[in-house]
Amino acid sequence: MAAPRGQWSGKLGFILAAAGSAVGLGNLWKFPYITYENHGGAFVLVYLGAIALVGIPIMLAEIILGRRTQLSPVGAIRKLAAGRAGGSAWTGLGFLGVASGFVILSYYSIVAGWTLRYTWMALGGQLEALAAEPGALGTFFGGYVADGSQQILGNGAFMLLTIGGVYFGVKSGIERVARVLMPLLVLILLAMAVYATTTAGFGKAVTFLFRPSFGELTTHAVLEAVGHAFFTLSLGMGAILTYGSYMGKNESVPLAGIAIAVIDTIIAILACIVMFSIIFTFDMDVTKSAGILFTTLPAVFYQLSGGGLIASAFYILVAFAALTSTISLLEVVSSYAIDELKWTRHQATLTMGLAIFLFGILNALSLGAVSGISNFSPLGSAHAGLFNTLDYLASNWMLPVGGLLIAIFTGWFLSPKETWDEMRQGSPGCRSLYDGWLVLIRFAAPIAVGAIIFSIIFLGMEYQ
Ligand code: TRP
Repeated sequence: MAAPRGQWSGKLGFILAAAGSAVGLGNLWKFPYITYENHGGAFVLVYLGAIALVGIPIMLAEIILGRRTQLSPVGAIRKLAAGRAGGSAWTGLGFLGVASGFVILSYYSIVAGWTLRYTWMALGGQLEALAAEPGALGTFFGGYVADGSQQILGNGAFMLLTIGGVYFGVKSGIERVARVLMPLLVLILLAMAVYATTTAGFGKAVTFLFRPSFGELTTHAVLEAVGHAFFTLSLGMGAILTYGSYMGKNESVPLAGIAIAVIDTIIAILACIVMFSIIFTFDMDVTKSAGILFTTLPAVFYQLSGGGLIASAFYILVAFAALTSTISLLEVVSSYAIDELKWTRHQATLTMGLAIFLFGILNALSLGAVSGISNFSPLGSAHAGLFNTLDYLASNWMLPVGGLLIAIFTGWFLSPKETWDEMRQGSPGCRSLYDGWLVLIRFAAPIAVGAIIFSIIFLGMEYQ
């Protein structure tokens, strides 16, 4: 007999695990730099609107699909689509989710591996030595990413940690890791934010973030805000759907979904306050690349008093955030094998983890180590290398298409009677909230996500 399906220990377990999935490199690295590029204030407001009007509705849709069926994406969609228009074609949506999880994890864990290396170097003092020498951080970073064995090592180490989290199951693995790491992450970030208030750039950072000047807002910025809203909330590939499938029927879907989005947003904003305070203190340029976290920031950390401590704390923070995200990506792929192929959790986690690691070796070698895959650019020279090609495909195609289809499926193919029946369980008094959600999931979310896809195809825009 198959092992009974796992469940979170309660409401907090689900919220922490899902917030762990949501809070990741997207919050700590990508959000600060796109906010900078888009001139702050007005962009932040649009982003908040996108979280509320597009992100939260799709998040609730994913939780509903998962909790309704108690299955991971492939099984969930297959079960709900059975006997309806389109029927089995919808199952492709479930497979798209599993494929997205596989692809995203295969390169996300490489960047995550960098955070381990930088934590190590910050603790051991090597980072400080590099920061002391002009230009040395950049030279080191360039050599490091092009060093194949280092990249495979970092990727392997991070995949081992990820497998370790998923291996022990929903409650004793995923939830336990989130219960320890999420509070620590919040503490480190809050401590850094308090420190940021003492820096000379703090006032300027707050003005930059919270005083909107709409004249600087572009259409591109609006679309980028929407695109990022669902990347940062881990939407569009069934990660939240899978976590929702372990949620008890007596817990409130809207409350949990809103809590996750609020936590994710607060952390993204705090990360901005910390980084911009430091950046404005030293009047630095922010570049659009991995460079900001691994070359620009370490340089300024060591100009502050207590730089070694700040740098160490910061890279630990980023590693923690990345780990709870990689765990959710592996859980989507593993739970497919568990639910559909009837593997045991241990078999599924080890096999899928190993498969993703092996595939990831190609990505690891595509940052300069092996020229064939480093120059592989089927989508144009702007996305040179397998790593960049996959990142582009996943963030610009797989996730937006997945998100659009999830919104259409939940809003239009499931009957309001069904979705209301699911949302009502655990929060019977939320009828008017439900009515608002139905309008958003039927209209606002598909239109906004459709606009992104349209702009990618016809206007050549990109959301990385
Ligand atoms: N949300 C994570 C971040 O901000 C990334 C992530 C984890 C993700 N799981 C996901 C994105 C699933 C999309 C889908 O870094």
